[in-house]
Amino acid sequence: MSRKSAKFVCSECGATHSKWAGRCDSCGSWNTITEDTGLTDGPKGNSLGTSRGNRVELSSLDIEDTPAPRQTSGVAELDRVLGGGLVPASAILVGGDPGIGKSTLLLQAAAAFASNGNSAIYVSGEEAAAQIRMRASRLGLTKSPLKLASETNLRDILTTLDAERPALAIIDSIQTMWADHVASAPGSVSQVRAASHELVSFAKRRGVSIILVGHVTKEGQIAGPRVVEHMVDTVLYFEGERGHQFRILRAVKNRFGPADEIGVFEMTGRGLEEVANPSALFLSERGKPSPGSAVFAGVEGTRPVLAEIQALVAPTHLGTARRSVVGWDSGRLSMVLAVLEARFGISFADRDVYLNVAGGLRISEPAADLAVAAALVSARQDHALPADTVFFGELSLSGALRPTAQAGARLRESAKLGFQSAIAPKGIKTTDGNSLDIHTVADLGAFMEKCFGKIDR
Ligand code: TYD
Ligand code: MG
Repeated sequence: MSRKSAKFVCSECGATHSKWAGRCDSCGSWNTITEDTGLTDGPKGNSLGTSRGNRVELSSLDIEDTPAPRQTSGVAELDRVLGGGLVPASAILVGGDPGIGKSTLLLQAAAAFASNGNSAIYVSGEEAAAQIRMRASRLGLTKSPLKLASETNLRDILTTLDAERPALAIIDSIQTMWADHVASAPGSVSQVRAASHELVSFAKRRGVSIILVGHVTKEGQIAGPRVVEHMVDTVLYFEGERGHQFRILRAVKNRFGPADEIGVFEMTGRGLEEVANPSALFLSERGKPSPGSAVFAGVEGTRPVLAEIQALVAPTHLGTARRSVVGWDSGRLSMVLAVLEARFGISFADRDVYLNVAGGLRISEPAADLAVAAALVSARQDHALPADTVFFGELSLSGALRPTAQAGARLRESAKLGFQSAIAPKGIKTTDGNSLDIHTVADLGAFMEKCFGKIDR
């Protein structure tokens, strides 16, 4: 199939097809193929075989490049997620749901960056300059020497950036950019792809760091093909629950630093404020000790984060029992329930189970298994766990608990927040001098005996 004749493209993987189909045979997703008239053979339309390219310069591995110093963005939590600041000439994609606060975060970061004596340009394709100024005055940023533009024409934007050569340019958002060499409408797959390609190669060529803002689709992915994520150096997601004031910036890909690092912010009437101690925030809503509540000592990236796991177990009135999870993986919940039933005879078959991570945090660590099991059994037995205890440990299908990494960091954070004891798997490496009372258990059976005594099955 020649790419010239391709008229249909998958918004999931970017594969091209000559005719429409319900399912993309390249990635297997359904209803992602849309008509696209803007495809060419490449950015310049040159095909191999007819014209010859220029010879590229080859270099060797042993030339020592001094690593470019990182620039601080002026927002410490953003620097942490980037791995210690902004790397010059890097391309960063910041994705998130509409209204989550991407524009607010980047306007604050760009203004702080400009106030530190760096040149920065904020280009918005969504708001007029007057609207951005209004937001800036609400955020108290009007004194910053940040330059603004309200524009969607990519050619004009690149010409301006080339003339100004700022250290940082923000493009808000990539879906509104319009590259005139591509025929399809802004926001379409080929426009997003072409605009990202132009901007990322501009960043590399001219040494300008570029941050692209990307909206997220219903399925939770950055709208446009996955190739945009492959083009940039760093992909950050800005997330949070509606009805909660705090937001989490999470690195999902980072060529210059650790992935899965998080930054925590609180949305206030005066913009986003950095949260230096997220555990205290996530635990702040905790009331009196009650059945079904267990505190998980987790680690996000390099930072320990404590969170409360809440479980509710109620009799089922409809035919099938309900399982509802917020902030954790539902497959993992099924696994914990199955282990409790198959290995320890604690059945949840005729009971609805609701599991919630308080405060709107989303946990992906398997180390939360023990805290989840503790909350579930506590809810089912109607027996509150001690309020001054934290739990962590990964559960295996046999019911054994596996030692968890970074135990020292988890324990230190728990002690700092005033917890007295911890229940953890046998074999964890603990650091000396920790003031916590640490109880290690080999499996879930030993854990339940310790916390609940005799279990009513
Ligand atoms: P915004 O940055 O426009 O979101 P995005 O660019 O991700 O679409 O954020 C908009 C929301 O943030 C809006 O619901 C209002 C709220 N907000 C505040 O609560 N305080 C503030 O100081 C600002 C500027 C916005
Ligand atoms: Mg916005």
